[in-house]
Amino acid sequence: MEETTIRECTTIEEFDRCVELQREAFGLPDLELSPRRHLIVSRQAGGWTLGAFVADRMVGFVHHLAAVRGHNEIFGYSHVMAVAKDYQNKGVGARLKWAQRQRALREGRKLIKWTWDPMLARNAHFNLNRLGAVVETYLDDFYGTAALLPNNALRELFTGGRHWAAYIAGAFPMLAKVCGKKVIASIIRAIALSI
Ligand SMILES: CC(C)(COP(=O)(O)OP(=O)(O)OC[C@H]1O[C@@H](n2cnc3c(N)ncnc32)[C@H](O)[C@@H]1OP(=O)(O)O)[C@@H](O)C(=O)NCCC(=O)NCCS
Repeated sequence: MEETTIRECTTIEEFDRCVELQREAFGLPDLELSPRRHLIVSRQAGGWTLGAFVADRMVGFVHHLAAVRGHNEIFGYSHVMAVAKDYQNKGVGARLKWAQRQRALREGRKLIKWTWDPMLARNAHFNLNRLGAVVETYLDDFYGTAALLPNNALRELFTGGRHWAAYIAGAFPMLAKVCGKKVIASIIRAIALSI
């Protein structure tokens, strides 16, 4: 595959390309997508968007928000990621997520949190096996788009924890434990914490 470069999106044209990529990858109505102004405003509020570029073409992006929990701890919230159809399953998504993790660590973050759809096999494999994400809870119809897409799980990815070390070492086990439509979060968490 051609060389892919990961860098921050900063221009109107690049943010517009993020919208196009969402249209292509999600196939949702425009009202359900993150518009250019959302990407611009979150950049002003401490977030950022990383783009994956092959030559001059942006083939994927991940959007990262600054979030707060507990006693003013800032963490990352990964709101949306999309890869162009002709570049999916070629490792672009994984490169974007590792770059996101690297930057979050540089900024002193210990956690990145995001949602994903556990009923899509690719997303389950990508997030649990490839990234080593730890499932926190299962939420039904998270975005209120149940009629348009299947359900989402809320997931947490510990940027500083042993989960990542285990994953990098290739030791992270298959954590997808699905029972009917419920991910058994406690079992997954227990396995992850024992590694
Ligand atoms: C999810 C998404 C961002 C991943 O990006 P990507 O560049 O395709 O990801 P990668 O190529 O790094 O990894 C995809 C993995 O899923 C695997 N995969 C593909 N189809 C699969 C399936 N049906 N079942 C299981 N695994 C599957 C690929 O083989 C690859 O795993 P591998 O590297 O172990 O072989 C991209 O596919 C996409 O834009 N999807 C639509 C939008 C979306 O769901 N975004 C994420 C939620 S915000």
